Amino acid sequence: MKKKLIAGNWKMNGGLAANEALLQALLAGVGTPACGVAVCVPAPYLAQVQALCAASPIELGAQDLSMHAQGAYTGEVSAAMLRDFGVRYCLAGHSERRQYHGETDGLVADKAKAALAAGITPIVCVGETLAEREAGQTEEVVKRQLAAVIHANGHCISEIVVAYEPVWAIGTGRTATPEQAQQVHALLRAQLKLASTQADRIQILYGGSMNAANAAQLLAQPDIDGGLIGGASLKAPDFLTIIAAAQ
Ligand code: G3H
Repeated sequence: MKKKLIAGNWKMNGGLAANEALLQALLAGVGTPACGVAVCVPAPYLAQVQALCAASPIELGAQDLSMHAQGAYTGEVSAAMLRDFGVRYCLAGHSERRQYHGETDGLVADKAKAALAAGITPIVCVGETLAEREAGQTEEVVKRQLAAVIHANGHCISEIVVAYEPVWAIGTGRTATPEQAQQVHALLRAQLKLASTQADRIQILYGGSMNAANAAQLLAQPDIDGGLIGGASLKAPDFLTIIAAAQ
């Protein structure tokens, strides 16, 4: 059976002392999880988290990367640089990057490609805004976002992780119902199946106010293969409860 993946996204939170306290609590409680576990941390803390999580089941993730391999791109971080710190996963196209940093479908697809070329698994985020959902455009939007990544990555598509994150559910406490989430995950799975014979092994995560109380129900859906957790990943007991729910 496909393993689930629980990935925390710390976003722009943390500090040396807070990170250490959070990770010590996670390491003390994580045991041997049935699922994959990762934390996507701010770039300056990659070395710290790499050292603290060495020889543990907690894998290292980054939150963004450059589509370029190297060169005059001030402020950017390449996939190879992330690789130097043992990064296993990198988010691509989180809605906050799309919304506040103008990331387009094409750029997100190129970032996913750059990650794959360096041996990093991109966690490609897709999701509709509230206005788009209310206008009945959910399917069109998520399919368009995923299509760009499929187009740019060809047969490598089976190496990605997808995260469905309805923008209206992120950080709002308003979670998609398990049925709403499953419906979109099934659409995404069908789209992946048209592109790859390996689509069944692609993990499709749900993200958007997933927490200790609602995780089990969401994770019980047939096409929900894990979670991308924001706020609740900053609280060790909550994150550990979500990990335990991912059997
Ligand atoms: O990347 C994580 C998502 O944006 C979800 O964030 O769990 O705080 O709603 P949230």
